[in-house]
Amino acid sequence: MSALLEVSGLAKHYPVKKGIILQKQVGAVRAVDGVSFTLQRGETLALVGESGCGKSTTARLVLRLIEPSAGTVRFDGQDVTRLDDGGMRSLRRRMQIVFQDPYASLNPRLTVGDAIAEPMAVHGIGNDASRRAKVQELLALVGLRPFHAERYPHEFSGGQRQRIGIARALAVEPDLVVCDEPVSALDVSIQAQVVNLMKDLQARLGLSYLFIAHDLAVVKHMADRIAVMYLGAMMEVGTKAELFARPRHPYTRALLSAIPHPDPSLRGSVTPLGGDVPSPLAVPPGCRFHTRCPFAQERCRSEAPELREIAPGQQVACHFSESLPEVASAQVGGLSAVAARRLALYDAARRKAA
Ligand SMILES: Nc1ncnc2c1ncn2[C@@H]1O[C@H](COP(=O)(O)OP(=O)(O)OP(=O)(O)O)[C@@H](O)[C@H]1O
Ligand code: SF4
Ligand SMILES: [Mg+2]
Repeated sequence: MSALLEVSGLAKHYPVKKGIILQKQVGAVRAVDGVSFTLQRGETLALVGESGCGKSTTARLVLRLIEPSAGTVRFDGQDVTRLDDGGMRSLRRRMQIVFQDPYASLNPRLTVGDAIAEPMAVHGIGNDASRRAKVQELLALVGLRPFHAERYPHEFSGGQRQRIGIARALAVEPDLVVCDEPVSALDVSIQAQVVNLMKDLQARLGLSYLFIAHDLAVVKHMADRIAVMYLGAMMEVGTKAELFARPRHPYTRALLSAIPHPDPSLRGSVTPLGGDVPSPLAVPPGCRFHTRCPFAQERCRSEAPELREIAPGQQVACHFSESLPEVASAQVGGLSAVAARRLALYDAARRKAA
């Protein structure tokens, strides 16, 4: 069976214009600059990378909330980027989004019941009575109570609001749920409950998740595969197990590094990431990571590496990924001390919540 989602060469460039009358284009923000990945049915692909690397823009392109500058998005075999309004309407029902801040996306004047029923009304699903029944079913599904339907968003906690956001996304029975940092704004113990819920719903409903996160502790629990973005482009894509155990791209290594190794002779082969991310207005030529890469060589400054398969299911965009020094897995397979602490906290909370 083909993948549920196939993204190929996807780009979003925002023109930068100058001059009040002539509005001459003087440059472009390359927010997303040619990304490709696939998502299988029932799978969770995590999209990770530093702030501003283009994760949310990718999400919005996939859902066609914004138009791409180049590339294609195929959903269940159909090219989303070429559909007309009618075709898009029926496809929208099958692709939903959960935002980081559900409060911002919930109308404060609608009761929770009406907010959850709204997408069904928009898509012409059922009548008032059947929608009310469905709202009750959804509230139960996400762990809320029947009377919550009559309440307003401000009466709920952050975790409960995210449950409402999830119920609203599930109301139209989608196949794909794009989750843009869905637990980033929540306390660790609440994060664990919401992550548990999302995993449970995935198993029960066969959902596919495109899961955007910057917290590797959360990603480690949620993801089947991980796609690492840097400055609008894909650096590495692989299974969670491979990527955590043997990251092949210097940027992935840097992201995952580094609990200082107890043996000093093993220290130092992973250099923590220094410097700032360059502006997407001035993407460095060649390998876009070369300005921060501890392994950069002359070739990296002029020739952009393609994302290529170096092992089954593992793709890397680096000229030298095969010849990089081996590093002790404790150095890169580990999480940063902060992330490791969070993960421990998170595990404990998760067990308690289960
Ligand atoms: N409408 C726009 N016009 C111009 N630039 C934009 C626009 N939207 C996003 N950008 C820029 O594109 C880049 C990618 O933004 P995006 O929101 O996709 O990043 P992100 O990975 O989701 O970051 P974060 O982790 O902070 O949410 C950023 O540099 C951002 O400033
Ligand atoms: S291509 Fe060169 S600069 Fe880019 S990640 Fe690989 S070694 Fe570093
Ligand atoms: Mg974002």
